[in-house]
Amino acid sequence: MAEANPFFNSKEVQDFNKEIQKYHLGPLWNAIPDLMHKQPKPEAVPYLWKWEVLEKKLEEATQIFTPERGGERRAIFFQNPGFQGRQPWGWASTTNTLYAAVQLILPGEEAPSHRHTQNAMRFITNGSGAYSIVQGQKIYMEEGDFLITPGGLWHGHGHEGDKPMIWMDILDIPIIYSAAGTFFEGHPDGLEKPSLPDNYGARRYRGGMVRPISDRTTQVAPVGSYKWAQTEAALTGLSDFEPDPYDGIAVEYINPSTGTTANPTMGAWIQKLPVGFHSKAHRHTSSSIYHVYEGEGYSVINGIQYYWSKGDYLVIPNWAWHEHVNTSTKEAILFCSNDIPIMEKLGLQKEEAYTKNKGYQEITGEFSPVLAK
Ligand SMILES: [Fe+2]
Ligand SMILES: [Fe+2]
Repeated sequence: MAEANPFFNSKEVQDFNKEIQKYHLGPLWNAIPDLMHKQPKPEAVPYLWKWEVLEKKLEEATQIFTPERGGERRAIFFQNPGFQGRQPWGWASTTNTLYAAVQLILPGEEAPSHRHTQNAMRFITNGSGAYSIVQGQKIYMEEGDFLITPGGLWHGHGHEGDKPMIWMDILDIPIIYSAAGTFFEGHPDGLEKPSLPDNYGARRYRGGMVRPISDRTTQVAPVGSYKWAQTEAALTGLSDFEPDPYDGIAVEYINPSTGTTANPTMGAWIQKLPVGFHSKAHRHTSSSIYHVYEGEGYSVINGIQYYWSKGDYLVIPNWAWHEHVNTSTKEAILFCSNDIPIMEKLGLQKEEAYTKNKGYQEITGEFSPVLAK
């Protein structure tokens, strides 16, 4: 923080500050210490949500909220305790730049198509048989699949299976809201009618490493859905080699027509922590929201241990020291969503390795998650 100067608390200065505020003017001399601190001070805090709580609350929500009653989606968002008092709800959700939620759809339900300027990503965590219709393309979703809906594309959902289906949504709502860039529109037909072959994008990219020649020019969302089997094969191939010291075996979802992240403002990857893996600690200006897809272990964030297991969600705010540990006898698989593209576009992405204690943080406490009552 810039140095606080006692003179700025004097009566003379305080009186002047009050005087200019009558004219909707503000005193920078008093504001600087809060605005220009020496390093990032995110309001988001590290936090972990247990799957048992989410599962119970989603189940309860099915008793109350139905598509016919409106509300667009049966989604419960992750409200970071650091943003508890902010209005409206959901603006500042999970990190300073990212909103995340879990969404449940019941067999036979339809969630109407809409489009908005916010970019969205989806990671499928439970069930099969539901589909999304994205800009005329009907995409069936299975566990482990990753889908994108870049801003401005129509998207709606339906469910042809026989069990509830759950996925994680990640959007850049905080960025779009603070930039006053929000546009939203409901589809005139309710749920959009498909106009392309089913699973068009995934079928066009069945080969993985080759692209249709038409995609030599930039396409917004050429793949549509990234199937788990292909992601898993990529992880298996990479597992022959040394893991990344901070993230293990990790592969990022990309747009094959540009080579950049699948969604323009948000990054996403799958990372596998091999048995016995203990990453080194680092920190970066980007923030991350993790979903534990398989396995168990813990992450150390700013010295505190966050124990996680299958289905849990973990938030690592900007510039927080963190490391990951697999404590089980099986591999752990984590889905990571992040705001790296936003930070890169703003010229803010920066990373630092933890150099003390051989690269591992000293443990100073253990996080106690809120459990279901
Ligand atoms: Fe949406
Ligand atoms: Fe990291």
